[in-house]
Amino acid sequence: MTHKVFVTRQIPEAGLAKIRAATDCQVWPERMPPSTESLIQGAKGCDGILTLLSDRIDADFLEAVGPQLKVISNFAVGYNNIDVHETTRRGIVVGNTPDVLTDATADIAVTLMLAAARCIKKGIENVSQQQWLTWEPMEFIGQDLRGKTLGIVGMGRIGQATARRCHFGWGMQILYTARSGKPQAESEMAASHVSLDQLLAESDFISVHTDLNPGTTHMFSTSAFQAMKPNCVFVNTSRGGVVDEDALYEALTSGSIFAAGLDVSDPEPLAGNSKLRDLPNCVIVPHIGSGTTSSRNAMAEIAADNLLAGLSGNPLRHQVEA
Ligand code: DGY
Repeated sequence: MTHKVFVTRQIPEAGLAKIRAATDCQVWPERMPPSTESLIQGAKGCDGILTLLSDRIDADFLEAVGPQLKVISNFAVGYNNIDVHETTRRGIVVGNTPDVLTDATADIAVTLMLAAARCIKKGIENVSQQQWLTWEPMEFIGQDLRGKTLGIVGMGRIGQATARRCHFGWGMQILYTARSGKPQAESEMAASHVSLDQLLAESDFISVHTDLNPGTTHMFSTSAFQAMKPNCVFVNTSRGGVVDEDALYEALTSGSIFAAGLDVSDPEPLAGNSKLRDLPNCVIVPHIGSGTTSSRNAMAEIAADNLLAGLSGNPLRHQVEA
């Protein structure tokens, strides 16, 4: 029997070709995501769906698409867009795409650290607005990375890859918070497992790699930013919801931190009226952490394999647990 599948966006052929060959599949053809109604329409009666992080999969959606659905394959490592308690309750398996985007995302975290620390946004604007009038000894003064302290919030695969780059590249001292200690990171790069309060107070750079859940939502609020050093560079490549953006704006404009680099926002895209957009000390890129050819191809392959495994009742390559 051929399984019916809905793929909610064009993804690399590395995965799509496998899905086309094995299923009766519809692919959402547009650049913008399907609306809730179109998502339901596309998924109704399907055995499997391949989703993106912008597709909200909740109880109402699952109720509307009917009992046929057996597998949801998310084209992302993060899966906060899916109510996994609800899928588990209904016996639907959920897959994700870890590991293959670790290095690409850590590279973007470091890119943002450097860009924010070295006033790159201000420099680019200076040139593009034809304001580069002379060499200015007192302008574009940033922060060094060499020998500084980096606080990693969420020391999973991407947090550790970011720490490794900074420790071995610039001799940075690594502090981290995590649910459990990471002995490997402690022996490899002398990382110290500390409380969030200590990390906020002592870090010159803070890079966030935690997942988004009720406990981490807006964990970076006014009090967290006030606890940071005034030279601190704050970077978020995880999920926008961990940051209270009004509090970040206040911290960046009052001088309570030096600069920020964001790959993610809440909502995404960044709200049209977000005051962060125009700040010279806030570098924002449009959620491109995993955006390399090899990462996206590998994500597509894993997502396809997860989908096909779930359809035939086999274990997924990477299955998410509630
Ligand atoms: C993920 O995979 O969760 C990233 O945010 C996008 O690649």
